[in-house]
Amino acid sequence: MLKSPSAPAPLPAHVLHITDTHLFARRDGRLLGMNTYDSLAAVLADAAQSAPDAVLATGDLAQDGAAAAYAHLTEALATFAAACEAPPPVYWLPGNHDAPSVMSATLVNPPLRPEREALIGNWYVILLDSTVAGEVGGWLSDAELARLDAGLATHADRPALVCLHHNPVSVGAQWMSDIGLANAAAFFETLDRRASVRAVLWGHVHQEMDTERRGARLMASPSTCIQFKPKMAEFSLDQRAPGYRRLWLYPDGRLETEVFRVERFAGRADPDATGY
Ligand SMILES: [Fe+2]
Repeated sequence: MLKSPSAPAPLPAHVLHITDTHLFARRDGRLLGMNTYDSLAAVLADAAQSAPDAVLATGDLAQDGAAAAYAHLTEALATFAAACEAPPPVYWLPGNHDAPSVMSATLVNPPLRPEREALIGNWYVILLDSTVAGEVGGWLSDAELARLDAGLATHADRPALVCLHHNPVSVGAQWMSDIGLANAAAFFETLDRRASVRAVLWGHVHQEMDTERRGARLMASPSTCIQFKPKMAEFSLDQRAPGYRRLWLYPDGRLETEVFRVERFAGRADPDATGY
């Protein structure tokens, strides 16, 4: 007797996470010896093969907040979108190296999107601004925490992914202990009011991290340029290749994820650098 075919498994939404692109006003600008435009281009060329449904860019998109740097970002992302089967929308948020007002004025052309929240597949995705003018470390204002709370309440029936620039948990590096999200307790208190939060995603730390807290995945992704060596007392560069993360968000709230490194990109940061 023939078995009746089982129902096809529901397809996940496929999301690409890029972060800390650190682009300069000049396309030949280098961060500790690495050409950040070229490393981003290599990452995007690699990632375009995977045909993502959406892209999340979590801050430090420019090194110095220059409008020309954001124009370079738009150009690189437009080239990437054209190489994809279907051009994916790119959602973004600022980091401590960015100029939020310049970003809002310049990151307005496709594939970049102005919204700070999105429905991607069955998931609710919210992008927070954790920057404080003139500071390296992060803080979520009362207004951003209220927006997070309201967004999670409105979409309580969907699995939620929360994005920000600063790390809300320690990555175990002493030199970074004062530059994470200073009011992480208030952030987690807001998340803990909702059972729908399945994942938190950030940049800033230029390294991979993947842990869990109360049923939610907590993830950092490599920078598209220079890498920091994990768990160091002092600033320390890692000679690993530029990278990015892919996430598969299933309608029922499960997620799968993997970090990719673009080994064929030969550029590396100056190993003797003592800060950035
Ligand atoms: Fe950064």
